Amino acid sequence: MKIYKREGQVAERPHLNLPHGTYEEELGLDGFFGPVSHLYHRNAPTGWSNIEKSSFQFPQCVVSEEEFLKPQCYKSISDKVNGDFFESWNPLFCNEDLGVSVHKMTKSNPIYFRNSDASDLFFCHSGSAILESSFGSLDVKPGDYILVPKGVTYRWKTSGTYLLRIESLKTYYKKPETGILGQQALYHEEAIRSPKFAPGLNTEKESKVRVQKEGKLTEITYPFDIRDLSGWCGTLYPFILSVKDIAPIASPIAHLPPSVNSTFVTPQFIVCTFLPRPLEEPEGALKVPFYHSNIDYDEIIFYHEGDFFSRDNMEKAYITLHPRGVNHGPHPKALANQNAKKRTDEIAVMIDSIKPLKVSKIARDLEIKDYWKSWMKK
Ligand SMILES: [Fe+2]
Repeated sequence: MKIYKREGQVAERPHLNLPHGTYEEELGLDGFFGPVSHLYHRNAPTGWSNIEKSSFQFPQCVVSEEEFLKPQCYKSISDKVNGDFFESWNPLFCNEDLGVSVHKMTKSNPIYFRNSDASDLFFCHSGSAILESSFGSLDVKPGDYILVPKGVTYRWKTSGTYLLRIESLKTYYKKPETGILGQQALYHEEAIRSPKFAPGLNTEKESKVRVQKEGKLTEITYPFDIRDLSGWCGTLYPFILSVKDIAPIASPIAHLPPSVNSTFVTPQFIVCTFLPRPLEEPEGALKVPFYHSNIDYDEIIFYHEGDFFSRDNMEKAYITLHPRGVNHGPHPKALANQNAKKRTDEIAVMIDSIKPLKVSKIARDLEIKDYWKSWMKK
């Protein structure tokens, strides 16, 4: 984000007159060229008491052999697959640029997580949670995007939440350029919620952090509470953007392409949000999406809320994958009934990836195998 935040006691400016008894940590992306924050710790960030390979390792995105072009639909994850953040990780789709997974968390993880492979973008589908980090805490509700930049140390407190997770492995997320619509279009950066900061927390005698590097976890133990900051400042921090604070771009005349619904972009893929909006008014106007084959992208849609306008039998938390090269578009019933509605009421997250996406074995077990037949005449 471009908005500079400052919490608690910080240096006069970076590297000058640090708060008494603190150690300055510089956390930045893109080497020293990208967004950066400065954190003022009461204990040195290198003051660990142990570093070892973690006894817990994530499941890898093991690619299913069953690869061919067809529209694909996947059910939500089973109730049996749950646990804390680490235990509930289910990788569904991946390539060298991004990973898409779901977490059905039923309990908190006291051990922190630091992703050194990727920036994590979560979308809360259901339940509630608190994201704790050295920057402070964020209250998470359904419809919230939670962006955790690469390198931030965090953990989840929850008794139940269902999260979609999109790891950006190459570059960090940005707000899309809004050009002639002006910088406040889509959402104003002031709408984002930054962490509630509490200075110098010291309620836990020890902190454990699992650090992910190339998919593997290493565990670092610190003999102090890592939420020990006197303050932080900068442009790099975890934050929340609620779908309620996104203003979709719509036209009463023309059916606009899905790209106007972009919310976060990277050079490798984009994340779009479909939100309730009025439909086009002119008589004869096409109101459902046009048929297309996305020839430069593979497209994933996660269905969050509402009646999805152009598809039949789509349930909450279902995910579709439409690979490039095969057409998709409105189901026959939706096309026939397109004039029956004046508005859409759907909320969905779309991910368009330039590089083809691989499907994991976990996802294949959730697949509705006949989905591709749903366009055929019954
Ligand atoms: Fe599409």
